[in-house]
Amino acid sequence: MRLTHIALVAALTVSASVNAQKFEGLALTPTMGWNSWNTFACDIDENLVRETADLFVKLGLKDAGYEYVVIDDCWMEMERDPQTMKLVADHKKFPSGIKALADYIHKKGLKFGIYNCAGTKTCAGYPGTRGYEFLDARQYAEWGVDFLKYDWCDHSTQDARASYSIMRDAIYAAGRPMVFNICEWGDAQSWEWGGNVGHSWRVSGDIARCWDCQENYGGWAKLGLWPIIRLRGDIRKYHGPDHWNDFDMLEVGNGMSPAEDRTHFVMWSMLASPLILGNDIRKMSKETLELITNKEVIAVDQDKLGVMGFCFLNDKGFEVWVKPLDNNEWAVAFVNMTEQKRTLNYDWNRYVKDSLTNRELKCGETTYKLRDLLAKKDAGDTSKALVREVESHDVVVFRLSPVKK
Ligand code: GAL
Repeated sequence: MRLTHIALVAALTVSASVNAQKFEGLALTPTMGWNSWNTFACDIDENLVRETADLFVKLGLKDAGYEYVVIDDCWMEMERDPQTMKLVADHKKFPSGIKALADYIHKKGLKFGIYNCAGTKTCAGYPGTRGYEFLDARQYAEWGVDFLKYDWCDHSTQDARASYSIMRDAIYAAGRPMVFNICEWGDAQSWEWGGNVGHSWRVSGDIARCWDCQENYGGWAKLGLWPIIRLRGDIRKYHGPDHWNDFDMLEVGNGMSPAEDRTHFVMWSMLASPLILGNDIRKMSKETLELITNKEVIAVDQDKLGVMGFCFLNDKGFEVWVKPLDNNEWAVAFVNMTEQKRTLNYDWNRYVKDSLTNRELKCGETTYKLRDLLAKKDAGDTSKALVREVESHDVVVFRLSPVKK
């Protein structure tokens, strides 16, 4: 009797430790997709999501690598079902139900993502998951969810790591692989523990559509591009395949200047952040479409080495960012941080060392061929100085490939 008891305890311990894991390998490169929040906030419905999925295919977004179509906050009714305690999709916004929507998206060869919150309520006041983790995870699995963004509002004194770990376990127990996006805004340093829990974690509060601003909302603030980038210069070591620093959903196409949009997209790629579009893709300009489907820039983001770039130099108003790539290649971006058009005059003959990977870029010893990624053109090599006119807040970015002797 006693032995059986011990065996049972042992078996339970083993199965508990087996369940304490995330689904591995779902984000070997940063996740790419679209999320409803930045443009639509609570104004979402199934037609918008279906049209977005249709356009993923029609406009070449799917072909460029965008895969996940994600609905953010406000997809639910205000209360759980009083009998089953299950979450209920808003009947007016999603009359066909979430399963039908997920099926529709899957038929297009895409994946479907949803949102909830580790606290008692979501940020917009809908039912949060606290206390219902296993029920909700099973529900998502039944619906065919492939991605869960999990927010941090209304968490009271909950412990972040414990709260996110419970949801990780619930997803695993539900048995359907889902990318798990931790969205606790970096308040509890999720990069320090997130690698075993999720596939990516937000490093900041919400993004604002601006170059260098902060928009204050009482107890919290939205941050522009550079405040977000500057906030977390020191977390490169936590970042890599299947566990990414997430610099928030993109604001490309949402009102910044074309130059700022270019810099935004290039910088998110240099940082190897998830690329989650946040614009209305039904109405975007040709220029926006061309930028977000630029496969050569996307390849920098998706490089399989998975290293986050860093600022190597601030040179007369230009920030020089470098990112080691697979195959001894590098990406190098020059951002004009000033308010005027400037001439970039850059001598490649400098020594760059990435202290994280110990990779060295020595253009004095090795000549690198240059590929201008925004112009999609070859641009000579590193034996000559680079001279370029660059507009205010604009960027030029190159892939450097060693020339074989
Ligand atoms: C915030 C989150 C946003 C969005 C919003 C929804 O906490 O950072 O990206 O999801 O909640 O209410």
